[in-house]
Amino acid sequence: MNSSEAIIEIRDLQYTYAGSNKPTLVIPEFNVKKGEELFLFGPSGTGKTTLLECLSGVLKPTSGSLKVLGHDLVTMSSADRDAFRAEHMGYVFQSFNLIPYLSVIENIELPLHLSPVRKSRLGSVDTDMVIRALCGNLGIGELLDKKVTELSVGQQQRVAVARALLGKPDLLLADEPTSALDADHREKFLKLLFELAELYGTTVVFVSHDRGIENLFSRSLSLESINRATS
Ligand SMILES: Nc1ncnc2c1ncn2[C@@H]1O[C@H](COP(=O)(O)OP(=O)(O)O)[C@@H](O)[C@H]1O
Ligand SMILES: [Mg+2]
Repeated sequence: MNSSEAIIEIRDLQYTYAGSNKPTLVIPEFNVKKGEELFLFGPSGTGKTTLLECLSGVLKPTSGSLKVLGHDLVTMSSADRDAFRAEHMGYVFQSFNLIPYLSVIENIELPLHLSPVRKSRLGSVDTDMVIRALCGNLGIGELLDKKVTELSVGQQQRVAVARALLGKPDLLLADEPTSALDADHREKFLKLLFELAELYGTTVVFVSHDRGIENLFSRSLSLESINRATS
């Protein structure tokens, strides 16, 4: 696949929550190219999280076509979408979703337990060494045996990113994970994230209501410019 190819291709996508009488997403067309660092912004309630959940295969679009790496998630079974996500995607949640009773390293290893293919993406090298190198790059190399509840918000965020990037996923989806950080930390964090994403060939889709960071991305777009749903 060359770098100008689309990693995400959306045509006529609609998503309507069960019990709702109008769609949350109506997206006629939207593409993301491989290698992009895309910033999608919009106020709260405009469907950012809903779109990321469709992209990750957590939610199945009500109609239309949503291709990731050429595979249409709309026609896949729920189990196939779960396997596809585990194999190809990293997800950084707004609240990080770290497991409080596990250590830092156990949290980071989780995706490998969910997908043998993800584990095989590490190659023949020792998993522990790969995690240590990645965490060294993220500045959390000293924290691996700590409980995640002992960490600061900024440290937890780096753990969430390490977990998402382990195994070099094709696509990293991030849902406002910087909202708890101050401006200086946000910028440092994003530069580090992009450095690793570029090294790994990982495409980044990052959603936020906070436009203070948009100039750091390779492309920036308002969700309302692609989503025709009216709230
Ligand atoms: N589980 C749900 N059931 C019904 N409606 C929902 C659900 N989650 C979100 N919505 C609605 O979908 C719209 C978009 O929400 P969301 O995707 O969370 O927006 P954002 O992430 O931009 O704040 C909102 O109107 C919200 O009320
Ligand atoms: Mg949201």
